[in-house]
Amino acid sequence: PRPILLTRHGESRDNVRGRIGGDSVLSDTGEIYMKKLANFVEKRLKSERTASIWTSTLQRTILTASPIVGFPKIQWRALDEINAGVCDGMTYEEIKKNMPEEYESRKKDKLRYRYPRGESYLDVIQRLEPVIIELERQRAPVVVISHQAVLRALYAYFADRPLKEIPHIEWRKKTESYLSFST
Ligand code: F6P
Repeated sequence: PRPILLTRHGESRDNVRGRIGGDSVLSDTGEIYMKKLANFVEKRLKSERTASIWTSTLQRTILTASPIVGFPKIQWRALDEINAGVCDGMTYEEIKKNMPEEYESRKKDKLRYRYPRGESYLDVIQRLEPVIIELERQRAPVVVISHQAVLRALYAYFADRPLKEIPHIEWRKKTESYLSFST
């Protein structure tokens, strides 16, 4: 069996401010996680010559991968966080206050809700298809460093969870853990 390790990026500065989306760098806490992850990955994959590290194209995942040495790194746009469109950079409170209808529609059907000029969970699930095909095809271990919405969808695929559960999978609390699947 070969492992697929899924992890979120280290905490970003926007995470600290409660802002969604964006392309900010890591917070101090995020940098601690970055170092811990590098240690973990180097130990876990020490004997693997062909493992690779996959990130999104956003700084917070690329930085999280930066201290991991000895493995090729691949950036996938398909691993970028859900595009929050006109809400990018806002806090949930701001959305609730300034765009209450949007806030309510999302609450009612988070799976299908599409941010104006952005994406829905269903859109994210669809754009992940090539990533999943490539993950299945790889024989070597892969470490995927990505974002909450994307990881929910990938996790659901490998753990065989139903579609309707995807937007509600608890990931925030899992930022300090590594999920691993064997295929
Ligand atoms: O808050 C961090 C974040 O990655 C945002 O960038 C993104 O919009 C959000 O999580 C996705 O989670 P949810 O679908 O629960 O809002």
